[in-house]
This record gives sequence, C-alpha cells and structure tokens, in this order.
Amino acid sequence: MRGAGAGVSEVLAASAVAGRVDAFQRALLSWFWRERRELPWRGVGDPYATWVSEIMLQQTQVVTVVDYFQRWMARFPDVAALAAANEEEVLEQWSGLGYYRRARFLHRAAKVIVEEHGGELPSTLEGLRTLPGVGPYTAGAIASIAFGLPAPIVDGNVIRVFARLFAIEGDPRSTANQKSFWGLAEALVDPQNPGDFNEALMELGARVCTPRSPACLLCPVREFCAGFASGEPEALPEVARRSAVKPMRAVAVVVTRQGRRGKELLVGPRDAGGLLAGMLEFPTVEREGKRWPKLDEVASLLGMKVVAEEVGELTHVFSHRRLLTRIFAAEVGSEATFADERWRWVPERELSQAAISALTRKIYERSKQLETT
Ligand code: ADE
Ligand code: SF4
Repeated sequence: MRGAGAGVSEVLAASAVAGRVDAFQRALLSWFWRERRELPWRGVGDPYATWVSEIMLQQTQVVTVVDYFQRWMARFPDVAALAAANEEEVLEQWSGLGYYRRARFLHRAAKVIVEEHGGELPSTLEGLRTLPGVGPYTAGAIASIAFGLPAPIVDGNVIRVFARLFAIEGDPRSTANQKSFWGLAEALVDPQNPGDFNEALMELGARVCTPRSPACLLCPVREFCAGFASGEPEALPEVARRSAVKPMRAVAVVVTRQGRRGKELLVGPRDAGGLLAGMLEFPTVEREGKRWPKLDEVASLLGMKVVAEEVGELTHVFSHRRLLTRIFAAEVGSEATFADERWRWVPERELSQAAISALTRKIYERSKQLETT
C-alpha cells in the first residue's frame, strides 16, 4: 500500500503515464472532443454560466441540471440580475434541486461580485476563492473552463479515475490521498486546454469509468491504467464506510381553505437552521429520534386547534437523516386566521412555483392522492 509519504512525482513515476504525459492528454482530449455531450453551459464563454452550472452539478446529475440551468439563466441572465433578486425568488428557481445552501451562496456571492468586483467574476483562483461558497473545486472549474487557466480540479469522478489509473489505495478522503489527487490533477492538466481536460476527466468518470462496472474496453486511457492492468479496476477507490443515518420523526399538517383564489394551502418559512432554512413548508413539527411528535404540538405552532385527519406517511432520506413524516389534512373556514404571522395562504396552483423543498412537494402530492375519494 502506498503510504502517506508517497509524493505526486513518485506516484507519477511509478505509473504508465511516466514520461508520456502528452500522450495521455491527447488520448483523453481527442476522446472528449469526439464524444462530449452538447450541454447548454458548454462553449458559451460566460464565467457566470460556468459558475452556475458547476454549482448545480456538484450534487446533481447532468440530466437534471440541464432544465434547471436553462430556467435559471432565463430568470437570472447575469450576475446583476441574480444580485438584484430576493432570496425567495432564488430559492424558487432552485426548488427541487436540494442542498439549498448552494442557492443561498450563489445569491450572496452575486452581491459580493456586484459590490466589490464591479459585476465581473474574479479571474484568478485566489480571487474566486474569496467568494462565498466557492471552494477549491468550483474555483478550479471556473478558472480552467471560463478563464483558460491551468488550474486543477478534483471531484468524485476524478477521484475514481485517478485511484484506478494510479492504483491509489486507502481511504480516498484521507489527507495524504487528497494531496495525491490534487497534485496529480495539477501535474496532468493540459495548459493548452485546461477546461476541456478537466471536463474530460469528469466526463470519463461519469460515462466510462463508472463506480461498479467501468467500460475499460471503451476507455481512451486504458493503456495508462494500473486498475485495468490489475484486472480488477472496480476494486478502487476503497469505499468509505457509510456514516450513521439518524432517525427522525415529523408530523406535518396540510391545512387548506377555500379562499378568494380558489383552494389555498397554509405555508410558512421553515424556522432557523438546517439545510432547508427559509424554504416554505406546511406546518410541521420534527425531531430527532423515533418518537412521534403530537398533532397538538403542530396545533400550538398555529395558535389554534384544527380538526385533522391522518392521510398517510412517507419516508424521506437526506444526506445523514432518515425522516418519517406523518401527514394530516385539515380544512378550515375561509375566514380562518392564525396567531403567528409567519403563516400565509398560497393558492394551490401557485404551489409548484413556490420555494418549497422536494419533501414538501412529496407531502403535498400525498395529501392530494386521498382527496379524490
Ligand atoms: N461534472 C461537474 N462538472 C462537469 C463538467 N463541466 N463536465 C462534465 N461533468 C461535470
Ligand atoms: Fe477507468 Fe477502466 Fe479507463 Fe482505467 S481503463 S480509467 S479503470 S475505465
């Protein structure tokens, strides 16, 4: 096993890429130029578009991102438009993509760019890194793809490709291995085509060098690959042990009324903290552990008693939580008012455009299924 001491130059020297970096770059790039997908953020030459797409792509698959990206660019075509929007509009556009912190960071960073950089994204790695939510990956992606700088980037796909190409064993998240991955990315990036090279590595990981069954026979860099030579490429990278998933229980009440605008639903911003802070949701009480909150606890959130009927239960898995939600439905009179002014009525037909999370959407769908009976 390669220990913490192995530097990048030793790793490279011991590999089939040694002395053939040019050939490696050419093999990867010509594959990419032949096979790359046409994606709406490719080749547009707009650093803002690169930034938005890379943030979206961090935790979401390409096929899903395409639509979101196009809608986002139509609504916020440039940094100034994003900076001028309010948070609710921004979250609305992100609604369903998950990890809403990403949207809040984009929004905050847009304001910083307008206020401190005259509306233009900084064009150096260091400058990009000063923006909220821009880490080494995003800075490297923008620098290489939008500004043509020979900056390295490492994401999950690159880690998998490198672990196999260079037979890097051990936990890929360890400090020593992270240093190797970043060092390799820096040593290998093609200074003539840094953006394409980086995208090619990620695309190879996404489409050829896949986690369970890499298509080595179609791989443009097979001849350089230690994993392929070993006959067992899928054995690397080592799979990290999964961290414990915490159980959580929630009770949500979908309160409806017949209002002036037809059927309306009661929603309010989720209170402080957590990944979904600020998103709109139905009145909900949730807690850690396996004990169910009581319906009365939701009633006291509302400041009034509601007659509610249980309509279903669903499970939603977040990164480290498994949340079971019991769903109740309650219909109230059209004059109903609530003590707490965070609650407001949203017409049913506007709900799908509102800043709601995927979970709230699921709760709504579930509450509707029972209505038709
Ligand atoms: N995954 C994240 N960013 C990507 C990009 N620019 N091209 C291909 N896959 C990606
Ligand atoms: Fe991945 Fe196989 Fe290509 Fe090696 S040869 S990089 S394991 S697809």
